[in-house]
Amino acid sequence: MFQKETYIRRRQALKKKIKKGLILLPGNVEAPANYAANTYKFLQDSTFLYFFGLDIPGIVGLIDVEADTDCLYGDDFTIDQIIWTGPQPALRELGEKVGVIGNTYTLFELQSVILKAIKQGRKIHFLPPYRSHNKMQVKNLLGVSSRALENYVSVELIRAVVSLREIKEEEEIAEIEKACETGYRMHTTAMKLCRPGINEREIAGAIEGIALRKGWGLAFTSIVSEHGEILHNPHYTNRLKPGRLLLVDAGAATDRCYNSDFTRTMPVDGVFTQKQKDIYNIVLEANNNTFRLITPGVTYQSLHLEAAKVIATGLKELNLLKGSVDDIVQNGAYALFMPHGLGHQLGLDAHDMEDLGERYVGYNDKTERSSMFGLGSLRMGRELLPGHVLTVEPGIYFIPQLIQKWQKERINAAFINYDTVADYLDFGGIRLEDNALVLKKGCRMLGKKRIPITPDEVEETMRQEAEF
Ligand code: GLY
Ligand code: MN
Ligand code: MN
Repeated sequence: MFQKETYIRRRQALKKKIKKGLILLPGNVEAPANYAANTYKFLQDSTFLYFFGLDIPGIVGLIDVEADTDCLYGDDFTIDQIIWTGPQPALRELGEKVGVIGNTYTLFELQSVILKAIKQGRKIHFLPPYRSHNKMQVKNLLGVSSRALENYVSVELIRAVVSLREIKEEEEIAEIEKACETGYRMHTTAMKLCRPGINEREIAGAIEGIALRKGWGLAFTSIVSEHGEILHNPHYTNRLKPGRLLLVDAGAATDRCYNSDFTRTMPVDGVFTQKQKDIYNIVLEANNNTFRLITPGVTYQSLHLEAAKVIATGLKELNLLKGSVDDIVQNGAYALFMPHGLGHQLGLDAHDMEDLGERYVGYNDKTERSSMFGLGSLRMGRELLPGHVLTVEPGIYFIPQLIQKWQKERINAAFINYDTVADYLDFGGIRLEDNALVLKKGCRMLGKKRIPITPDEVEETMRQEAEF
């Protein structure tokens, strides 16, 4: 955790943004994988972690705006538990580390505080719970039905939390930089291991080991696949074949749970074919061009469309698309090849604050989410502010099922050369993802060194021996 002043300051800032009432912030609890004693690796709720810093299951934060008090509710370990867990600090001691002094109570006491507030007609602010346990907990505390729960979610609190968490502080940026350092090691190791005959799982396991050695572990389940055209492919079942491309989308989380999120794509043989390089360089230019354009005040939606223009221009030169670039982009024809968004915010979550609702995180009154195929998948569309941390992740994919559907239904038929597309059906996919910090003017790429990205750099790295 950070120094206690960080958490005190963050809670003070939150109280300033909420007019009145109680702010209920439940942390996560252990979740059984297949039986109670075999739990998933514990991951704290990011908003609880942001305001209360304790990476420990079973604690609830409660902030009283009018009384200006910050409280923690949780049960100290019993001797029967300590036999299994070893000595554990009392909640009172934990509270002191994050600036909650003298305001720690048992979970049992929380119910009566909430009931009293309800009787007094006070507003109880809470965020949309995304885990079953937390849904039950909030529903039981407030005495509302599961169905009604979402009606009581506090949009005022969502907006306040987003406005604080989306602007990264110096110490948060330093953490993300650390996650980027680990990401560098993970991706260069993947490049060094990649060769025909190796199993995807050997590479996935090696990079997961690096993430664990350096911090909390993986930011999310890595994608390590010679089927890069399957956008979120969590399986590592293939033995890499000559002629294929390997796509690796992976990031690390630090001990304080800040994340990186990078993607690189490499030729299994260690050398790109001209056909692969032609597509690769279009994606690389879309990535580089986005970094040239990121600056406060522009919308990320407009930068998605700029990336789409780069892709449309490149694919036109390869005779895969036809017509004017503006028409291709306006009609969404490029989305056959890039059906996802240009990026998302990054921080305590890999998709930062996605649990709070993308319409509040990635969009606002000025920028609405598009309903168009492709652009509609963009998670972050709003205007950029200094302190935003974002991913930049353009890609080009040849998804046989999607191509077949569009061809059959003549979707955007005027713009697509299906005869040429037919030569690419077994190409796979390319994505190149880096992480950006928006500055007062322009942006900065996060990470001390950029992960090798030009075809020459990738090929050179692939010639090196992996060290563990
Ligand atoms: N792996 C998910 C993403 O890059 O957004
Ligand atoms: Mn990614
Ligand atoms: Mn990403």
